[in-house]
Amino acid sequence: MPRLAKSDLVSIEDLPLSDIERIFELADSFSQAIERGETRRIAEGLIMATLFYEPSTRTRLSFESAMHRLGGTVISSPDMHTSSAAKGESLADTVRVVSAYADIIVLRHPSDGAAQVAAEYASVSVINAGDGSREHPTQTLCDLYVLRRKKGHLKGLTVAICGDLKFGRTVHSLIYALARFGANIVTAPFSGMELPDYVLDRIAAERNYRFSTVSLEELKSDQGSFDALYLTPNAPHQMALFTDANPLQDVPAARAPASLDAFYLTRLQRERLAGSNATPCNYAPFDARALRSSRTHRAVVMHPLPRTDEVAYELDSDPRAVYFEQAAAGVPVRMALIAWLLENRSRPAKRGNTSSIPFRGGTAPRCANPSCITRREGAYLRPRFRFAPTTNREHLALRCDFCERNLRVDYVGHTTSRRYYHFDESLHGYVRQWVEDGTLAVFDSVKEAEERGYEPYRRGPQREIMNSEEIAAACQAIAAQITADVVDPTMLAIVGVVSRGALLALRLRELVGRQTGVRPPCAAIDVYGQTALQPLDDTASFDVDGRLIILVDDVINSGWTVQRAMTLLWQQGRPAGVKLAVLIDRGHRALPIRPNYIGKSIPTSRTDRVQVRIAADEGGKPGERVLLYSLLESPKTAENPA
Ligand code: NCD
Repeated sequence: MPRLAKSDLVSIEDLPLSDIERIFELADSFSQAIERGETRRIAEGLIMATLFYEPSTRTRLSFESAMHRLGGTVISSPDMHTSSAAKGESLADTVRVVSAYADIIVLRHPSDGAAQVAAEYASVSVINAGDGSREHPTQTLCDLYVLRRKKGHLKGLTVAICGDLKFGRTVHSLIYALARFGANIVTAPFSGMELPDYVLDRIAAERNYRFSTVSLEELKSDQGSFDALYLTPNAPHQMALFTDANPLQDVPAARAPASLDAFYLTRLQRERLAGSNATPCNYAPFDARALRSSRTHRAVVMHPLPRTDEVAYELDSDPRAVYFEQAAAGVPVRMALIAWLLENRSRPAKRGNTSSIPFRGGTAPRCANPSCITRREGAYLRPRFRFAPTTNREHLALRCDFCERNLRVDYVGHTTSRRYYHFDESLHGYVRQWVEDGTLAVFDSVKEAEERGYEPYRRGPQREIMNSEEIAAACQAIAAQITADVVDPTMLAIVGVVSRGALLALRLRELVGRQTGVRPPCAAIDVYGQTALQPLDDTASFDVDGRLIILVDDVINSGWTVQRAMTLLWQQGRPAGVKLAVLIDRGHRALPIRPNYIGKSIPTSRTDRVQVRIAADEGGKPGERVLLYSLLESPKTAENPA
């Protein structure tokens, strides 16, 4: 029985161009074999498992058809919602189990980076059949195969890619591949659906492509306002198009291409729009009229399908409409991919990212992309990051190993000295050294750094801005405002942000209880930990539903902590309302969050630090105070900050 060596296809970048060429060669021969009714039973004895956590017609059925045509067999879970995933089984466990049942796993999943996780946990080859909005490499093989068959070559072609470039995973894989083949790319996104930064960064850094976008209308027109320029980067064959007058003076520019070779249209990925505030404007359906101009009449029209209303049905009979050929190519191309896996039986398994930053313990940041697989499978999956290729050195940019999104880091720390710093350019060298030593910690905020027990690198002179009596009076005042506001005190619940917000919450609860005659339930919320809500003191269980929640924190710095706490609260249930109480409002914030109850407003500069020292019990203790000091946290002047 032909066993397969493990060789995963997660990204189109996993395939060297020579291997793509080999797959096309094999696809040609399988195409002919299918036409002649010949069988090529090279996969006899092999089993493919198709695990689909998202709907599919073409991808799954053409994979399965390909496997059958090669004499292999298929086991399928076309709707993972009917599998153990519905019982909460992790992706890692599922693919480990299925590795014992099949020789190849074909996976489709709604989370960005899911295929990478599956590849790491499965002991058999994993093929990515679409992971969230990230990539869909086998669709790209079909796309390129048809495009090359139509045009004879790929190098130097000019391809217009239109529609949902933000969430369209087929587009991302296609762009990476076209760039490597040396094609020119023009993008015409729906409004708000431009290529995401991580895709742009990658092809700028690795292929020297730069984009600007044009509208589909401009592309269709013969002349008019379309004033595209070629930008010729280092490698002369790699060109990208610019529409506006080129701001980069020293770059040679040329006129727009006389003709386009392909339009690649995509639908709006509505299923990924939730939570996004984009307001896409869809194009009028692409029809035969669009192919009348001298620029467009030689172009083929491509679409990964399914179409919604991007392509008029009347175009289907036009020989330049090749989308059904792309879909049909799914079988020979995927047969070729399986055959290629068989050819590479003895090839050593590759991958495992060696350039990841070795964060130890709890010092790794969390990926900010809500669709990242690490957010969904956080119980076992440790976040992993690399340095992102970026030109902006003002902040530290990390790239998630799984979903590839960039994470902006403003605060870094050293795990041995337990000092933290506000990141600036001068820290790059230190940070690289700390990565080598395995001593880098990163934080979202000053608050997080301090919650984790880190001290600022250096403090400027400090002064006391509130003493214990003033803190006690401020708490009294907040409690009185809450009592005056609340109509039904039995609806109240108090939630404090760990750790000082929780201490204040307990104190406010006693004060409000005394004033209203009803002691509200009280809980702590830990925005950086795993446990969301922890009932405090004698609160036995804490229920968010229907409650008027007073969220309490000591200081509002940027507002990020509060925003996270709100999100966590809403994940716990549906409160009747949430109001915010803070001891100190600093008056500047990155988010439009305004506290309802404020102990004291203290306008401060960004580099000032307000530190609240309070005790667990009733207050009025002599050691309690609020301090203001400036952070001398940039080690520009430091010889050795660690
Ligand atoms: C695409 C997908 O699933 O990403 N479909 C496909 O595999 N041919 C495109 C889409 O759903 O829009």
